[in-house]
Amino acid sequence: MYYPDEVVEEVRTRNDIVDVISGYVKLQKKGRDYFGLCPFHNEKTPSFSVSGQKQMYYCFGCGAGGNVITFVMEYENESFAEALKILADRAGVKLPEVDDSKEDRAKADRRALLLEINKVAANYFYYQLRRPQGKIGYDYFKKRALSDETIRRFGLGFANKTSDDLYRYLKSKGYADEVLRDSGLVTMEARGTWDKFWNRVMFPIMDVNSRVVGFGGRVMGDGEPKYLNSPETLVFDKSRNLYGLNYARTSREKYMLACEGYMDVIAMQQAGFTNAVASLGTAFTERHAMLLRRYTDTVVLTYDSDGAGVKAALRAIPILREVGISTRVLNLKPYKDPDEFIKNRGADEFRERIEKAQNSFLFEIDVLKRNYSMNDPEQRTKFYNETAKKLLEFPEALERDNYIRAVSDEQMIPYEDLRRLVNRLGNRPGAVSTRVTSAGEERERRKKRDKDDGIRKSQRLLLTWLIERPELFEKLKGIVGPDDFKDPLYHRTAQMVFDGYAAGNLNPAEILNHFINDEEQYREAAALFHASLDESLSNDEQRKAFSETVYRVRRNSLDEAIRATTDLAELQRLMNEQRTLKTLDITID
Ligand code: GTP
Ligand code: MN
Repeated sequence: MYYPDEVVEEVRTRNDIVDVISGYVKLQKKGRDYFGLCPFHNEKTPSFSVSGQKQMYYCFGCGAGGNVITFVMEYENESFAEALKILADRAGVKLPEVDDSKEDRAKADRRALLLEINKVAANYFYYQLRRPQGKIGYDYFKKRALSDETIRRFGLGFANKTSDDLYRYLKSKGYADEVLRDSGLVTMEARGTWDKFWNRVMFPIMDVNSRVVGFGGRVMGDGEPKYLNSPETLVFDKSRNLYGLNYARTSREKYMLACEGYMDVIAMQQAGFTNAVASLGTAFTERHAMLLRRYTDTVVLTYDSDGAGVKAALRAIPILREVGISTRVLNLKPYKDPDEFIKNRGADEFRERIEKAQNSFLFEIDVLKRNYSMNDPEQRTKFYNETAKKLLEFPEALERDNYIRAVSDEQMIPYEDLRRLVNRLGNRPGAVSTRVTSAGEERERRKKRDKDDGIRKSQRLLLTWLIERPELFEKLKGIVGPDDFKDPLYHRTAQMVFDGYAAGNLNPAEILNHFINDEEQYREAAALFHASLDESLSNDEQRKAFSETVYRVRRNSLDEAIRATTDLAELQRLMNEQRTLKTLDITID
C-alpha cells in the first residue's frame, strides 16, 4: 500500500508520541524526557525513553527505537499500513483512497474477520469444556495436573464429539461459508462440511498480543495424529509465532526457555517459569530467533531428551547464534520433557537444572562424541580432529582459547595437545575456512574495530547534539558536513539532518519515515539521535567533549581522503586543512 509522504507525515504529527505511548507504557517524566520499562525487552529499571521534542522513543537497554508509527508497528505487531490506519483513526485523520488499496483493504478486513472468528471459536471451546459433554476433556487436563487457573490463563477448551457443531454455531453467528473455509476451522468437501477439530482438547495459539491466531488439538489418550494443528491462514504463520510468548515477553527473567510442545510451555509456566515458549511442531526458524532477540539475548533450550529433541536442539543452536543469542542446553534426564520433569521433580530441581544448563558449544561437542567409540584409538583420534575443526570456527583467538580450555577440561584432553592440534589444522592451507590469525593480526583487527566504533560513536554524538541544540549548526559551518559521515546509513541520515536545518525544518521523527520499511534501519537511525554522553559531565566537560567530537569526525574524514587521494595538489590542500583543524577553537556555549 502506498501513501504519499505528506499523508504519512500528517498522521505522524497529529499523534503526539508521548500521548500514544502513555496508552501502552507507564511513563515518568525525568528531565526533558519520559522514561518507562521497555515493552520490547525484559528489564527491571527503566531504560526506555520517549522524547516529546524529538517525537521519538529509544531504549538504551535493547536499542529499540523509532517514531510513533514504528512504535505501533512493533508493539501491535502490525504492518506499516495497518499501524498508519490505527493512528489515523486515533487522530481523526481521513486516509485518502489509494488506487491499489482496495485489495489491501479487503485483506485487512479479512484478517480482522478471521481473528474475530478465532476468538468466537476459542470461547466456544472454552465453554464446552465446562459442559457435561466436555467433562472428559476437563478430566484429561486434571489428570495432567493443570489447575483451573492454568486452564483459564491459556484458554484451554474442548471440541465436542459431534463432527460439525462448531460449524453450525459459527453459521448461526452469521459467518459465511467462504470465510469459515479460510479460517482453517472447517473442512469443506463436496459431501459436506465438518469441523476440523472434534473430540480433542483444545489449545488456542495466541500471538504476542494475545489474539487467537490458530489452534492445536490433542487426542485424549493414544491416537493419531496426537496433535492436530490449524493450517496456516491469513492470520497464522507458524514461522512467526511462538506459543507462550504473549506471557513470556512480560516475564521479568533475563533469559527465555525454549521447548517443543504446548504441554511443556504450560507445565513450565504453571510451575512459575513464565518465560517459556515453544515453536509448535515446526522447526525452529530464523524468524523465531529474531522474534526472541527482541526480548532476550540468552535462551535455555529445554528440548526433549530423546534423539529427535537433540537433533532439534542442534538445529536451533546455530540459528540462535546467528542472531546474537547465546544458548545453553538443559539436561532433562532421566525424563523425556519439561512437563514430565516438573511433575516428577518439581520446580526447585528444574531451576537447578536451568542453572546447570550446558554451554551450547560444549553440548555440540558432547553430541559429536556419541558418533565415536572412544575405546578405539583411531576413532578417538578422529573425534579429536573433528573437535579441533569445530574450535577453529571461532574467529577470535581469545574466545577460541577459552573454548579450547573448556573442551580440554570437559573431555579430559591435555590443553597443550588440543591447542597444538587446533593450530596445526588451522595453518594447513585450505583445511578449514577460518584461518588461525596470529596474535599480532588479531590485535590489529581489534584495534581497527575499536577505532571504527569510536568514530561511529562520535558521529552519533554529533548528530544527537545537532538535533537537541540546532544552534550548534552555526559552529560547524565550513568545518563538518554530511560528507564527513562515511557509512551509507549515517551519510544518508546526516544529509537529511543538514538539509532539514538549512530548510528551517529539522525533524528527526520525519527522517525515520524514510527508513520505515526496514526495522534494522530505522532502529539504527534512531540510535543516531540518541547517543548519550555521560550525564554527570559538567558544562565545561561538555564543551570540551563537543569540540573534541567535531574534531574527531572531521579529522577521520580528512585522514580517509588523504589515504585515498593520488593527486599531489589535493594532498597538499588536505594536509593544510588538517593542520588548521588543530588550531580551530570550536566551542559550544
Ligand atoms: P504431550 O504428549 O501432550 O505431553 O505432548 P508434548 O508436548 O510432549 O508433545 P511432543 O513432544 O510429542 O511434541 C511436541 C510438539 O510437536 C507438540 O506440542 C505439537 O505441537 C507437535 N506435535 C506432536 N505430535 C504431533 C502430530 O502428530 N502432528 C502435528 N502436526 N504436530 C505434532
Ligand atoms: Mn509431553
